[in-house]
Amino acid sequence: DEWNDGGAAQGTQQETDASGQQTRQIVKKGVKDFTFGRTLGEGSYSTVLAATDRQNLKEYAIKVLDKRHIIKEKKVKYVNIERDTLNRLTEHPGVVRLYYTFQDERSLYFVLDLASGGELLGVLKKMGSFDIECSRFYAAEILDTIAYMHSRGVIHRDLKPENVLLDRDMHVKITDFGTAKILKMETKANGAISSSNGEMAGNPMDGAETDKAMSFVGTAEYVSPELLRDKNACKASDLWAFGCIIYQLLAGRPPFKAANEYLTFQKILALEYSFPEGFPEVARDLVERLLVLEPSSRLPVEHIMSHRFFDGVRWGKDLWKQKAPRLK
Ligand code: ADE
Repeated sequence: DEWNDGGAAQGTQQETDASGQQTRQIVKKGVKDFTFGRTLGEGSYSTVLAATDRQNLKEYAIKVLDKRHIIKEKKVKYVNIERDTLNRLTEHPGVVRLYYTFQDERSLYFVLDLASGGELLGVLKKMGSFDIECSRFYAAEILDTIAYMHSRGVIHRDLKPENVLLDRDMHVKITDFGTAKILKMETKANGAISSSNGEMAGNPMDGAETDKAMSFVGTAEYVSPELLRDKNACKASDLWAFGCIIYQLLAGRPPFKAANEYLTFQKILALEYSFPEGFPEVARDLVERLLVLEPSSRLPVEHIMSHRFFDGVRWGKDLWKQKAPRLK
């Protein structure tokens, strides 16, 4: 079982080197190895607490999930999706890293990167909106992370400014993979593995996915038209949400917002939104190429990166090494 018992009996694990040789025995982490601190966030199934590793004083965010509640509400599958996706996304600075998972009688624990800057939503609300330079920087880090997730066969499905956290240096850390989807990976004739591009139509995985008639995934304001129409999300659904986020950074509010969810969905399906006065033309052009009803007609990631909105951005490692712009 991948859920180490973090309670009384501490599990051990054989550490192996690259050649598969056993090097040493390491003791897995458990609840007792951490000092728990302040509450960072609360969700319907979890609480995130600040915590410190007692041995090296390294700080983490620990997501604590109540087992009884999760079983009762039939969310076991989503907890496993979150753990599995995070374990697939360990090589990028823009994803909250999962260090350990363990459990005790009552709870499941995810030991994660601490993002001490909090949610991008909070920062945005405090500022009202961002200028074009700040918007470009945060949009670029989010996009670089989306490109990585997609290259690893993961669709997030709930991108929004609440799920974009900021570390102490104000760099992006995307979180909340509980509603993500892992794409079936295709093995090419040459042995290379890539995520299948036939994810949209007729993917047999979707027939097997019992969530079709299921409760809606995602957050009303950022949900894509294809999810509302066909209950089907694809990589381009994350790019729809990304278009909504760019709009929100510059305008201070999401493009599709109404008195209730139903009216919001109607606006999305009718592509009913407009730009406030003074919205930069170059950003408007990009948003208009992302907020497109037909998912296959949205700008693909590589074309987004070369759009003139991102002129001057140094994609790749440099982006994450640079100093975040002063908020304006
Ligand atoms: N809230 C939810 N997850 C968090 C994290 N990893 N760091 C800080 N605050 C959070």
